Amino acid sequence: MSVTIKTAKEIQLMRESCARLSEVFECLGEMIKPGITTKEIDREAERLIRAHGGIPNFLNYNGYPASICTSVNEEVVHGIPGDRILVEGDIISLDCGLIWQGYHSDMARTFAVGQISPEAQKLIDVTRESFFRGIEFARAGNHLNDISSAIGAYAESFGYGVVRDLVGHGIGTSLHEDPQVPNFAMKRRGVKLVPGMTLAIEPMITAGTWEVDWLDDDWTVVTADDSLAAHYENTVLITEGDPEILTLR
Ligand code: MF3
Ligand code: CO
Repeated sequence: MSVTIKTAKEIQLMRESCARLSEVFECLGEMIKPGITTKEIDREAERLIRAHGGIPNFLNYNGYPASICTSVNEEVVHGIPGDRILVEGDIISLDCGLIWQGYHSDMARTFAVGQISPEAQKLIDVTRESFFRGIEFARAGNHLNDISSAIGAYAESFGYGVVRDLVGHGIGTSLHEDPQVPNFAMKRRGVKLVPGMTLAIEPMITAGTWEVDWLDDDWTVVTADDSLAAHYENTVLITEGDPEILTLR
């Protein structure tokens, strides 16, 4: 598949999809407290998505069994909601998306459960900031690698690991479109950015190694050294000027 350039009408639908998703996230963020289970977060996510007129796009995606990914501590992404109870000091990455009138949105945030260590908070902050370092290069005429290398260089300057086995992606009428959007420098400059491209840019950063393993559920991605991991994702529109971060309210 090639990179899709959205029309004005499609861009409007992407905006609407992403606005709904960011409202869902605002509610989910308020639920994150010690004592809640990840399954309860999933149920509320699905309810909120449908209440906003959307369809959960993760549910049944390649057989994925939930509407949201809940990844705790050393889990990087794709943690499956279940009976796990969040405890004070955990960090949890929520990754969620929806379909609105045929258009997909995708975003992720890492939340603190109660009081967390300064080390965990720093990892969350640097992961978020790495996205914004990358986004400075999300401008028409630049190339994809300008974004990727800025994200990676910033995170690595703290000694953090930048996950390489998973990347961001184009997004539109499918959850995953071309191009792939790595969070580390590539040898090639990648595609040229053009107004109307919509990209899910999603640094996945660890407090240790970049290497990851898969659990036996075949979904949950964990750090190979059990270090903490954080995730920060927005769906972004390339414009003639500044990028529009569609999932930021
Ligand atoms: N949000 C993930 C991504 O950014 C997709 C998760 S698909 C699921 O690519 F099936 F695991 F939910
Ligand atoms: Co994504």
